[in-house]
Amino acid sequence: MSALATGGVEVALRGIAKRFGAAEVLAGIELEIAAGELVVLLGRSGCGKSTLLRIVCGLEEPSAGEVWIGGREVTALEPRERNLAMVFQSYALYPHMTVRDNIAFPLRIRRVAKAERERRVREVAALLGLEQLLDRRPAQLSGGQRQRVAIARALVRQPPLYLFDEPLSNLDAALRTRMRAELRALHARLGATMLYVTHDQIEAMTLADRIVVLEAGRIQQVGRPEEIYRAPANRFVATFVGSPAMNLIPGEVQGGRFRAQGAPLELVAGSARSGPAELGIRPEHVLVALADAPQPAPPAAPAPAAPAWLTGEVELSEPVGDRGYLHLRAGELVLRASVPGPEAFRYREGARVRAAIDPAHTHLFDARTGERWERQEP
Ligand SMILES: Nc1ncnc2c1ncn2[C@@H]1O[C@H](COP(=O)(O)OP(=O)(O)OP(=O)(O)O)[C@@H](O)[C@H]1O
Ligand SMILES: [Mg+2]
Repeated sequence: MSALATGGVEVALRGIAKRFGAAEVLAGIELEIAAGELVVLLGRSGCGKSTLLRIVCGLEEPSAGEVWIGGREVTALEPRERNLAMVFQSYALYPHMTVRDNIAFPLRIRRVAKAERERRVREVAALLGLEQLLDRRPAQLSGGQRQRVAIARALVRQPPLYLFDEPLSNLDAALRTRMRAELRALHARLGATMLYVTHDQIEAMTLADRIVVLEAGRIQQVGRPEEIYRAPANRFVATFVGSPAMNLIPGEVQGGRFRAQGAPLELVAGSARSGPAELGIRPEHVLVALADAPQPAPPAAPAPAAPAWLTGEVELSEPVGDRGYLHLRAGELVLRASVPGPEAFRYREGARVRAAIDPAHTHLFDARTGERWERQEP
């Protein structure tokens, strides 16, 4: 069932394009966000995320296309006519105002009565754990507290739609993790629609109902986090999401088998198509064993979908605690592998190892277009 089947469509972007002079920054953007959904726009720096968010909120005009919010076309409307709230990376609180007045500000300019204003401020302050800080000024707050005030200020009007542009990127790692969980809980409690921009894939994976991967102004894939991870639509998504990045091995598919270029690697391709292709395998799916360790007995007759084994050498070994990252060289091929922590210390640089690639965990991409070839089980 589509995520959109459960509620109404809150935001629809139809054929959005944006040019700045000769530079085409966004092209052919089609996206629907369901009411109550948390959608994360993920992409690297400069890919057009903020521009798209600014188009949704009305700070930027698209060169082509339409923006719909809550069933209304709003393309020509001012930001304040769009009934949404936006939280930026630099959360620009008014330094001379108390936390209370900062949060109440959007209500004051809309002439909400004082008693109602105070009630709403108390409510969001409680929601975000700011009750004890209402009389302070921004300079007397930590970064995380300031960020919570900025979010409170966005929440106080209770619009149906929230836009976030990298709101956590100024915070340290521990605080970012906590705020991420708080935002997720807040979304669950409010049931509001949220569009959240980040270049951080962990943030995207942990927050999103659906992720939109953007690159060079074009949508590469839209899907639930596990879909993006399990079945990346193309080479870009495959290597952008996941760390360390997925291995891509150039080669050729013929007669249902993949043969690598420049390395003795051959295995079932799981595809009915033939031609130049790249075989993708995530580092955690490359199985590693020391070459002189006892080896599993090979099956009497190799099974058609048996793992393919390579022999090589550890070129680089980086134990990071819970995992270890290895670079393995086999001929011209360099494979990244990720092994469980305690094992990592056994693979010293220069060690001879064997690495197995299980066909069940491979992906295939067209060498020319980069598009995914769907798997077909034999
Ligand atoms: N007002 C502008 N005039 C000209 N070019 C612009 C303007 N605003 C943005 N750009 C360009 O558009 C592209 C996309 O910018 P945008 O700010 O949307 O990227 P982003 O994905 O948000 O990046 P980051 O992660 O660094 O914030 C960039 O190449 C940027 O230089
Ligand atoms: Mg940006």
